Amino acid sequence: MKVIPGPASQKLGRQVAELLEAEAVHLAFKRFPDGESYIRLKADIKGEEVALIQTTSPPQDTHLMQLLIMIDAAKDLGARKIVAVVPYLAYARQDKRFLDGEAVSIETIIKLLQALRIDGFLTVNTHEEDVLEKFEVSAENLSAIPILAQHLMKKDLKEPFALAPDQGASGLAKEAAKVLGGDYGWLRKERDRLTGEISMEKKGLEVEGRDVVIFDDIISTGGTMATASQILKKQGARRVFAACVHPLLVEGAKDRILRAGAEQIIGTDCVPSPVSVVSVAPLVVEALAQRGS
Ligand code: R5P
Repeated sequence: MKVIPGPASQKLGRQVAELLEAEAVHLAFKRFPDGESYIRLKADIKGEEVALIQTTSPPQDTHLMQLLIMIDAAKDLGARKIVAVVPYLAYARQDKRFLDGEAVSIETIIKLLQALRIDGFLTVNTHEEDVLEKFEVSAENLSAIPILAQHLMKKDLKEPFALAPDQGASGLAKEAAKVLGGDYGWLRKERDRLTGEISMEKKGLEVEGRDVVIFDDIISTGGTMATASQILKKQGARRVFAACVHPLLVEGAKDRILRAGAEQIIGTDCVPSPVSVVSVAPLVVEALAQRGS
């Protein structure tokens, strides 16, 4: 197998190649002055099985386009089998027609990937796992929650409590609690579909004097984590940590969360960022190895 680390996941891709003891295919890539992407694969991949690693964090549309171009080029250059590893799958939150007339964007992305005839698909903690059923090829959703929780174990947590900022993420908190020990729970969150404004309330959670870790799949603007952190601090939580798989951190999210009382933000390299201290490389390697690719 050869690994192609895409422009958006160079470091992670190289780590995966190293752990697999596979060749990392070098790319020449650039953006033209008008914004278009250029990609050249600098290795012979004819007849090879390849794992192409490219996250689709911001700028999502550019990274998606690069992913599509690379898959097509790899196919065209004779790759025998292509597994697309997309640690952060953009547009996954638009998996329904929430308001009349809305595009179900994630379905468009999946149709494009299918049309390019990938042979397999891997992602990490995608927003709603069910969406992967739309793939005709084998598509797997890995979870980085246990390795995030293991990292948090180093923080010497007092009476740890794993919290999800909404019921949809309660499975993440449950998974984390298995590693952290202690209980888990979730807040009630509602988001105005038009303004994006969120409201949250805490019901029956005992967090006073405890160290609370909030687990979510994504931190985007940080509004969710900041509101949750504030509520927890008001309820007397001793320390609050904000953990997520995909730290998009747009619009000053980091400052917003820290100002709200969280001690630290911890994320994974599914999305490269200053808080991406946990690597999903071993997870990806294990999944690729299990596929026998
Ligand atoms: C939404 O349901 C997701 O799980 C995240 O909670 C959300 O995307 C976070 O967005 P923000 O950081 O902008 O509040």
